[in-house]
Amino acid sequence: MQKIDREELIRLAFEAREKAYTPYSHFKVGAALLAKSGKIYTGCNIENAGYTPTNCAERTALFKAVSEGERQFDAIAIVGSMEGKTNEIVTGPCGVCRQALYEFGGDDLLVIMAKSKEDYIERTLGELLPFGFGPANLAE
Ligand code: THU
Repeated sequence: MQKIDREELIRLAFEAREKAYTPYSHFKVGAALLAKSGKIYTGCNIENAGYTPTNCAERTALFKAVSEGERQFDAIAIVGSMEGKTNEIVTGPCGVCRQALYEFGGDDLLVIMAKSKEDYIERTLGELLPFGFGPANLAE
C-alpha cells in the first residue's frame, strides 16, 4: 500500500468543505479520497430543496473518482462541522456512505475522521461496517 499523507488529505478535505452547498442544514462536510493510483479526489455535501436528493461529501468524492475511471482506494479523510464553527466532535461517514465506499474500498479502506490536521481518529471501513455486504457476496 502507498504511503498515506494524512495531513495532506485532511488539508484537502477542509478545502473541499469550503464548497459545501448547505442552505438547509448549515452543516458543512468535506472529504478527500485517495485512490490506489495516487490521485486524490475531493468532495463536499450538496443539499437540495427536496431534501432527499442531498449528496454527502464522501459520495461526491467517490462518484467523481469512479467517473474518472478509479476503482480502488486506500483512504478517505472527512471533516465536518456547522457553518462558522470548528469541529467539536469528528464526523463519521453516514451509513449510506459506508455502504457506497465498501463497494470499492472493502474492509481495508482507511477512514480518517478529523477535527484538525493534528487531531483525528482513524478506523478501517471494516471496523465501521462489520460484515459489510459487497461484491464478494454476489460472486459465485
Ligand atoms: N453529511 C455528509 O456530507 N457526510 C456525512 O457523513 C454526514 C452527513 C451531510 C449531509 C447533509 O448535507 C448534512 O451533512 C447534514 O446531514
